[in-house]
Amino acid sequence: MIPIIDQVIDPAVRARAIERYRERGIILPTFAQQRDPELVPEKVKAKLGGIGLWDLDPMNLFRITWKNQPQEKGGLYGPVNRIELPSSLTGVKARIVALVGQWFPTGAHKVGAAYGCLAPTIITGGFDPAYHKAVWPSTGNYCRGGAFDSYLMDCTSIAILPEEMSRERFDWLKTVGAEVIATPGCESNVKEIYDKCWELRNTREDVVIFNQFDQFGNAVWHYTCTGSAIEEVINEIGNDRSRLAAYVSATGSAGTIAAGDYLRTIEPQLKVVASEALQCPTLLKNGFGGHRIEGIGDKHVPWIHNSRNTDAVTAIDDEDCMRLLRLFNEPEGHAMLAEQGVPQETIAVLPLLGISSIGNLLSAIKTARWFEHDEDDIIITVATDSASMYGSRLAEMTEAHGAYTTLQAARDLDGCLLGQRTDNFKELTHPDRRAIHNLKYYTWVEQQAKETEDLESLWYDRDLWTRLFAQPARWDEMIDEFNAETGVLDNL
Ligand SMILES: Cc1ncc(COP(=O)(O)O)c(C=O)c1O
Repeated sequence: MIPIIDQVIDPAVRARAIERYRERGIILPTFAQQRDPELVPEKVKAKLGGIGLWDLDPMNLFRITWKNQPQEKGGLYGPVNRIELPSSLTGVKARIVALVGQWFPTGAHKVGAAYGCLAPTIITGGFDPAYHKAVWPSTGNYCRGGAFDSYLMDCTSIAILPEEMSRERFDWLKTVGAEVIATPGCESNVKEIYDKCWELRNTREDVVIFNQFDQFGNAVWHYTCTGSAIEEVINEIGNDRSRLAAYVSATGSAGTIAAGDYLRTIEPQLKVVASEALQCPTLLKNGFGGHRIEGIGDKHVPWIHNSRNTDAVTAIDDEDCMRLLRLFNEPEGHAMLAEQGVPQETIAVLPLLGISSIGNLLSAIKTARWFEHDEDDIIITVATDSASMYGSRLAEMTEAHGAYTTLQAARDLDGCLLGQRTDNFKELTHPDRRAIHNLKYYTWVEQQAKETEDLESLWYDRDLWTRLFAQPARWDEMIDEFNAETGVLDNL
């Protein structure tokens, strides 16, 4: 049975967590507050004024929201952070808008996904901060988000990630005191991460594994917070003729794409498009392989991916993403874009796109071309993290290919961006969706000890996803009770 988390499972553990949070001054934000920071108490906002976005201060749990003011220190809340990418850059008529993850603490939205997994466990007594270690297996930013949230929630963390991930990630993890375990391989070597999790599970009693690929809290956070953030953006930027035409999301753990399940409830005609790396096209072709789009494409279908709600799959060449990373961040690239008529205000925000964000942009362009979207159509996608996470990748490319030139910029603009067409794009039929779902069997039932019955219910049970996505209403009640018992908010 796939559990719905709606009650305390161990009152003694919960009581210990309350005691500890009282001593440490930790308040847990509700999901409603993360969705709508207007609900954050004024006394919390007053504290945030003196705290930096990345500071290891428990108050920063209240900055797990798409609506942080875009500043390093002292910011409060404003509109959902997003950028619109004009036709002069994309070559298509449709309006392409990307939510910006840079302004979450850690510079990526994965602090939200991690909160969605950890917070319900704390309030129900499933995790004892004085005893348990929170294990965050990940190829991307999830273990950074998990380590950050753990620190703020006074939990010890263990991050597991492939040894070939960018140096920035390893350096930062050490600063939050996480135990770091590097597994063999690169981005798409998830099986090695799972093996390490089993080793920990079998040899240590104090570990709780928050596997983002099977933890519904990840998808639930995006359904609740990312979904409503997108709805707000549409309401703000749309006009009478606008329609939310598509939601495009790369799938790593398939958390972010769950916002599409929320959007379907407000726009049933919406196309939900999953994006992956051409070098590892698992959804598109049952394919496998290594690639350079950090954070996505892991040679399996995540347990939490509701493939019934995916309308199309597309795959992006990682070489295009890497070249555009240079175009969007090197001065010669900016000069070329300006010469081609891309507005300065757009050029200035291009560094907000990390490698997978560029992949999402390219997938949005393919989507616009495939469905022949026009200027009334809005395609929403997500910039999970920014180029600031990939300085070492830029340096590696300079070393390998020499300094970036205007000639190269012109080639990249034409070849990798304006030249995007509808190749490697597949609209899914019902049997295609079922085939994607079936692929879960090999990872989850054969390797990871899930029940076939649960696999079937994820496909057939009409109410299961609705019940899973509805959990935050109850979680918020339990968070309020928890905070009331610590008394920290009352005494602030
Ligand atoms: C940079 C980056 N992009 C995209 C993703 C994919 O998001 P999700 O895991 O929600 O599918 C991740 C996940 O960690 C990531 O780190």
